[in-house]
Amino acid sequence: MKNINNLYKKSKTRREFLKDITLGFGTIAVGTYSLSYLTACEAEDDGPVAPGKGDPTAQITVDISKAENKNLATIGGTIAITGDKLDPSGILIIRTGEKTVTALSRKCTHKGCTVPNFSNGVSTCPCHGAKFDKSGNVLGGPAPSPLKKYNATISGNIITITA
Ligand code: FES
Repeated sequence: MKNINNLYKKSKTRREFLKDITLGFGTIAVGTYSLSYLTACEAEDDGPVAPGKGDPTAQITVDISKAENKNLATIGGTIAITGDKLDPSGILIIRTGEKTVTALSRKCTHKGCTVPNFSNGVSTCPCHGAKFDKSGNVLGGPAPSPLKKYNATISGNIITITA
């Protein structure tokens, strides 16, 4: 047990630690203890997250004539949809004009929590309080960059969102 603790302290990151084990750095016994030790390290702070990653060929369509999307029938209205192939974190959709919409990833650029629909024009991340405006720009908090923006068009009642 002491050997594995020393090895972990010598390694700067969990990834280096795992590499050291697989390369046979030192003689260690990998048993129940080490497995539980690794599980406890899952929450390691790896810094800001990459923008939402989904299938770049996926496409979402939203029918604004449906009751659940009725907020988008009004300019300024917003909805938050759940995760799908295009973006596993989900997407915020904002009706910006008669013929324009904006679509933003709900994946917070700080640590990847899912941001909610807008309240008074601001989406506030529930994890550490980052605030985003309807263009995805950071208004405050720890987020280092804007929310990822998708291509979005509206034709009749149908909004189409693509990467
Ligand atoms: S994950 Fe930290 S502010 Fe969103």
